[in-house]
Amino acid sequence: MQLFLDTANIQEIRDGARLGVISGVTTNPSLASAEGIGSTESYKAAVREISLIVDGPISVEVVSLDAQGMIAEGRDIAGWIPNPWVKIPSTIEGFEAISVLSSEGIKVNQTLCFSVNQALLGAQAGSTAVSPFIGRLDDIGLQGIDLIADIVSVYRQHDIKTKVLAASIRHTLHCTLAAQAGAHIATIPYKILVQMAQHPLTDSGVARFKADWEKTANS
Ligand code: E4P
Repeated sequence: MQLFLDTANIQEIRDGARLGVISGVTTNPSLASAEGIGSTESYKAAVREISLIVDGPISVEVVSLDAQGMIAEGRDIAGWIPNPWVKIPSTIEGFEAISVLSSEGIKVNQTLCFSVNQALLGAQAGSTAVSPFIGRLDDIGLQGIDLIADIVSVYRQHDIKTKVLAASIRHTLHCTLAAQAGAHIATIPYKILVQMAQHPLTDSGVARFKADWEKTANS
């Protein structure tokens, strides 16, 4: 399972990319807004900077609600950077936009997916990846991870090539479970990337190795 960073924070992306474990980045209007990005021009500038740091797909979301607006935005975004994935929501208007953009060779990350049926529609429309939001399903009392397993299973059964991108990841267990469920990609906040690397037994082990080494070295 590949890991993408789910952030528009340039410093986090630099710090994550240095570890050599990040294959892409996902952004959305909320993440952009959290970084003070409030216009298409500033979003474009940030996305261009991100694409210089990470050599992989960078997801950029449209804000239009109608198909024609999404298509126009998607075509524009497609010209910003070498490897854009245009994020289009799982709506009626969105599926129309996905089918037009994908037929033009533009890669689409179908976002805000909350059901197998939405994932099936997106795959038929030509989505490159579908993003089931597991944390938001957990928030309403459902088992978000089940949706990842269900989509992976149905896609396998029907030999569908659309990638399953586990999104709305809230903790490290989500990451482990997404990998076990067969997600191709998980997009994670930087904080969770750091937590994935941490284990108290690693820390105490490193400290003990160093102390033992210094005891002998100094004797
Ligand atoms: C995915 O591409 C989205 O940006 C993201 O995972 C949304 O997560 P949230 O539910 O924490 O906002």
